[in-house]
Amino acid sequence: MFFLLPAVLYNDFFTIAQKKRVGYTVTERRRGICLDVFGMKGAFEMNLLEAAAIRVSRRSFIGPIGEEDFSYLQELAVQYSGLAEVEIRLSHGLAPCFKGFHASYGMFSGVEDGFLLGGAHHTADHMEKLGYYGELLVLEATARGVGTCWVGGTYRQDMLPSTSPELVDIVIAAGQVKQRGLKEKAIYSMVHRGRKSLSQMYRCDETPPDWFLRGVECAALAPSAVNRQPVTFHWMDGRAFASVPDMGDFRPVDMGIAKAHFALAAGGDWQWGNGGNFIPSV
Ligand SMILES: Cc1cc2nc3c(=O)[nH]c(=O)nc-3n(C[C@H](O)[C@H](O)[C@H](O)COP(=O)(O)O)c2cc1C
Repeated sequence: MFFLLPAVLYNDFFTIAQKKRVGYTVTERRRGICLDVFGMKGAFEMNLLEAAAIRVSRRSFIGPIGEEDFSYLQELAVQYSGLAEVEIRLSHGLAPCFKGFHASYGMFSGVEDGFLLGGAHHTADHMEKLGYYGELLVLEATARGVGTCWVGGTYRQDMLPSTSPELVDIVIAAGQVKQRGLKEKAIYSMVHRGRKSLSQMYRCDETPPDWFLRGVECAALAPSAVNRQPVTFHWMDGRAFASVPDMGDFRPVDMGIAKAHFALAAGGDWQWGNGGNFIPSV
């Protein structure tokens, strides 16, 4: 099926070779061990699937990211930016962006660092790519004990430590965290109310393969704007694809995030876009 697709579509696939190159070079250089980002081969303190299982949004930070983790994540952000033709970088100096948001949702404290995600070249899939690669960075951070939270609305864009704040589409706050306190647990319970069951996350016309269900299970753990979980995965006519009801608000970002989780667990590659196909590697 993959080989029958027109060349123009082929160009839109993330190539396995590219992703493997990123996974191996960065990890081997930094840690001296091998992590295949998508195949999950090799040893690691915590792999990205384990990170997906324990990740929750963190809003109370006790300090900036440690130096070694900062340069590791920064280097990875640069590599992903090149792959996706977007601009993702890790930055210090985010504290002023979070002054003045007092509603419980979005009540951040101690934010110093964060990823700034954006870029000048807005392709049709720009926001989805930010979601996909941003979430891989979130999971890498989680695996190192760095806390994160995607922030689409509750920050001041005009206070960003960037020469072109208007080119930043979304932020991921990041930093040192300790065990969740009462405030964070309360926000978690509030936003997690009404979370979808697994069966509400997919549609199928026959029993789907195991890899598909593994993918959905991991996607169910993904963060989404106001916990909306707008992505539905489909197994129809022997083909897997993902859709969102519309491309408004942050739904393309949510779709990129959910696709990243799905690909990690299922093993394979996504076609960008609403209704994009998944090509399993098995
Ligand atoms: C695209 C996107 C935008 C978000 N924007 C905000 C935000 O502005 N403020 C905030 O406090 N949390 C924000 N979040 C975090 C979500 O509220 C959180 O992911 C969701 O409630 C699920 O909780 P969890 O991440 O702990 O699983 C955002 C998440 C995503 C994916």
